Amino acid sequence: MTPISKKIGIIGAGQLGRMMAMAGYPLGQKFAFCGNNNDEPSAMLGQMFIEKDCAIESLVDFADVITYESENTCVEQVREITKTVPVFPAEKSLFISQHRGREKILFGQLDIPCAPYQLVNSLDDLKKAVEEIGLPAILKTTTEGYDGKGQFVIKKTSQIALAWQKIGNRELILEGFIKFSRELSIIAVRNAENEHVYYPLVHNIHDDGILRYTIAPAQQIIDSVQETAEIYMQKLLDELNHVGVLALELFETDSGLIANEIAPRVHNSGHWTMEGAETSQFENHIRAITGMPLGSTKPKQEIAAMVNIIGTTGDINAVLSLPNTYLHLYDKEERAGRKLGHINLLADSAEDLFATLAKLEQFLPK
Ligand SMILES: Nc1ncnc2c1ncn2[C@@H]1O[C@H](COP(=O)(O)OP(=O)(O)OP(=O)(O)O)[C@@H](O)[C@H]1O
Ligand SMILES: [Mg+2]
Repeated sequence: MTPISKKIGIIGAGQLGRMMAMAGYPLGQKFAFCGNNNDEPSAMLGQMFIEKDCAIESLVDFADVITYESENTCVEQVREITKTVPVFPAEKSLFISQHRGREKILFGQLDIPCAPYQLVNSLDDLKKAVEEIGLPAILKTTTEGYDGKGQFVIKKTSQIALAWQKIGNRELILEGFIKFSRELSIIAVRNAENEHVYYPLVHNIHDDGILRYTIAPAQQIIDSVQETAEIYMQKLLDELNHVGVLALELFETDSGLIANEIAPRVHNSGHWTMEGAETSQFENHIRAITGMPLGSTKPKQEIAAMVNIIGTTGDINAVLSLPNTYLHLYDKEERAGRKLGHINLLADSAEDLFATLAKLEQFLPK
């Protein structure tokens, strides 16, 4: 029998790598990371190859399979590595999800509704795109955006030149502004045997462009909406031949779900699954990329919340005193806007959850 234990190489050494390794060790897996320095959140969890000339080669020598933390991982590098060691999710998922225009084309091909859009390469293009799409609209860089960075909401025509000046001089995309009632996301997992599993839709609340809360499952979701989200996901997984976790961010509107973007990796809106679901997104990702059967995505309790700890840590001892509360710190230095950790809460009712959340709020920085 082939040994179950695999050596997993992770490109990146942040909190996502850390949590993947923490989920994989009980399954008998081994981990190494390719990162920037020895202070990163994953550093103590396996061998670290520091990003310089031969770090990737060392990771490839170590690994039976390679995965990554970021959709900004270099596609050419992944293509090269794949000649020696399998990389999951594979190149196609990475190539599409690192460019907002390619994502939108894929949504169109698969009949997944998304915002109207135009690619923009000059101020002239932008003026034409505004005429076509109308205002308000949201201008974004096609690549490398995160936490709402590289975006400009254009409300009036007088702002067009300023918007181009602020984030232009590179390829942009103008999107129609979607009037949404809530922001939702869904996480799905597929393994190479074509097994698919789906977590319930969750409700994401942002503060200053950064995810602050996830409520899981999102409340008042009728079965047909969950089914629609799963159908969109299944189409994406199959088209991409995706192996691993895939996240899809959605807007909930009066006319149904509208897709925003995908991420070919474990996702912040899935951190609640660590204590909140029978199998966490991290464990299911590791299972998927190592050819293991996938685990149940069923929530363990009626409702859960995930609260991100951003910038400063707050009164951690007070947080630990709250019932049904689980702390995850990433071993990062405090810095404005930085995700330092998160807290998961489980409850038997929405009422209990929001009561504990209100207490928790007092102990966390605003
Ligand atoms: N077309 C749109 N209409 C209305 N609001 C939008 C639109 N696109 C984005 N937004 C708002 O801006 C936020 C950030 O956008 P988006 O998710 O595309 O960027 P991001 O930088 O990748 O963010 P994150 O890293 O948090 O996922 C969204 O969560 C949403 O609140
Ligand atoms: Mg987003």
